[in-house]
Amino acid sequence: MLRTHNCGELTISNVNQEVILSGWVQKSRDLGGMTFVDLRDRYGITQLVFNMETNAELCEEARKLGREFVIQIKGIVSERESKNNKIATGEIEIVVSELNILNISKTPPFTIENETDGGEEIRMKYRYLDIRRNPIKENLLLRNKVGFEVRSYLHNIDFVEVETPYLIKSTPEGARDFVVPSRMNPGTFYALPQSPQTFKQLLMVGGYDRYYQLVKCFRDEDLRADRQPEFTQIDCEMSFVDQEDILNVFEGMTKHLFKKIKGVEMNDFLRIPYDDAMRLYGSDKPDIRFGMQFVEINELVKNKGFKIFDDAELVVGICAPNCANYSRKQLDKLTDFVRKPQIGAKGLVYVKYNEDGSFKSSVDKFYSQEDLQLVADKMKSNKGDLLLILSGDKDHTRNALNELRLEMGNRLNLRDKNVYAPLWVIDFPLLEWDSDNERWHAMHHPFTAPKPDEMDILSTEPGKVHANAYDLVINGVEIGGGSIRIYNKDIQAQMFKHLGFSEEDAKEQFGFLMNAFEYGAPPHGGIALGFDRLVAMFGGSDSIRDYIAFPKNNSGQDVMISSPSTIADNQLDELFLKITKVND
Ligand code: AMO
Repeated sequence: MLRTHNCGELTISNVNQEVILSGWVQKSRDLGGMTFVDLRDRYGITQLVFNMETNAELCEEARKLGREFVIQIKGIVSERESKNNKIATGEIEIVVSELNILNISKTPPFTIENETDGGEEIRMKYRYLDIRRNPIKENLLLRNKVGFEVRSYLHNIDFVEVETPYLIKSTPEGARDFVVPSRMNPGTFYALPQSPQTFKQLLMVGGYDRYYQLVKCFRDEDLRADRQPEFTQIDCEMSFVDQEDILNVFEGMTKHLFKKIKGVEMNDFLRIPYDDAMRLYGSDKPDIRFGMQFVEINELVKNKGFKIFDDAELVVGICAPNCANYSRKQLDKLTDFVRKPQIGAKGLVYVKYNEDGSFKSSVDKFYSQEDLQLVADKMKSNKGDLLLILSGDKDHTRNALNELRLEMGNRLNLRDKNVYAPLWVIDFPLLEWDSDNERWHAMHHPFTAPKPDEMDILSTEPGKVHANAYDLVINGVEIGGGSIRIYNKDIQAQMFKHLGFSEEDAKEQFGFLMNAFEYGAPPHGGIALGFDRLVAMFGGSDSIRDYIAFPKNNSGQDVMISSPSTIADNQLDELFLKITKVND
């Protein structure tokens, strides 16, 4: 046996026991007469003591130990003189009698401690060292725990985990596919699944009733802190259900997870229709940890000679509480913020509702104190508040004000990581108009069913049709999304037609699904939650990368294994591939 205990479990109750431990040398301190070594494994850190007086030879050997050497020791557990209450083993140390070096280590390129001196790039290159560090290890253990709780919850209510294939045909979820050439079928390609959407629907046709899978999905899209090209979904589907059933099951699961993982009891989740979310927050994933809802003020500000408002489709503002004392400089900073190209507002109008009841605004020339009072009343503001107003076309203005609202939420510390504000956004539009390509896109995906009572306007006014589609949003993050599905061949065909598929294309790409619908498809629906995002939320981070053992960097590369990489000519030949253009 290479150890009798691990490095995280020995306490004062083990004093005087002889133990064997194995692990990595995190740090060693030579204090002349004594050498102290911090021995680390997955479970914790235990202090080892080598005493020059009692065992000089061993102490000499210990002095030679380098960082990250793998060692095994035998010794006696003793009570420490100076205790460390920050770690579980902080009351004891091991007085070592035998030392066995199991493996040596080069000096690692960064310190393997909670606070490291290694930059992102080098830590990614040596990820196997980075994941030895406590913060990353804790993240991966948290991931494991969340996964276990998900499985346990779903298993207990009759969900079965079924694996679906990775080498498939394109499933449209709105991103580009990663493709894999087929050697056995020259000139043809598999696509890696953007999600197992069609397969989980086929499992419902197959009678499995309640399916789930913690499953890798692959999407070739621009990366952000909350996006990886391969990520994991908690993918679920249920038969003989309506929207209410699905929301209840997954609200239940989310509450269960928050209770088990964070010890947080959640109230019932708010439900906000998509149209209201856009009107009140300018976003389909509103952060409702704080108020500052949008107030539309078109009718109060038009025809007063201020051309920018007169010409605007929408004039809309938020009320920042107790900010009327903002300085010129602070207001200029906010104006610069909304003018950033990513946000794209042309300017920002402010109205200070001073403590003495007077108003000071950037548009005083056009609006009297009475005009501004009406605006302040409509925005339910109080003396001391600051009104921030944007105008322009509806979509861009809402978008920009959403960013400004979030920014003000940050500035005013209203977005506390330890507060959780979940909600369902429901009643999404079925389709969205893509003005660049002059065509409709499915807002969720093409398998989402129109609301039954709006079916009759699908062919005449497709933009007005809503779907039983829903997103789970927590603290402004889209954690999951799903819908009730089409299970009728003709409606599915009609949907494909609206999305610009010819009959042949639809048949070629999705004939298998439409055929399946002819063999007794049950009514069904489902949802997928972003597992990485959920875990990152539990860990209190915006970045999912820290919760993935071997993630990709922002350019979609794994710098540790140098992937993606070129392949040999003979491999290309075998796959009937010819690279004609690189970086053209
Ligand atoms: P959707 O495309 O909304 O739905 O994806 C579900 C959830 O997966 C997460 N997610 C991601 N996480 C990390 N990196 C990414 N690149 C990424 N893309 C998506 C999000 C998202 O809410 N088949 C449907 C589900 C259904 O209808 O049942 C689907 O995939 O948290």
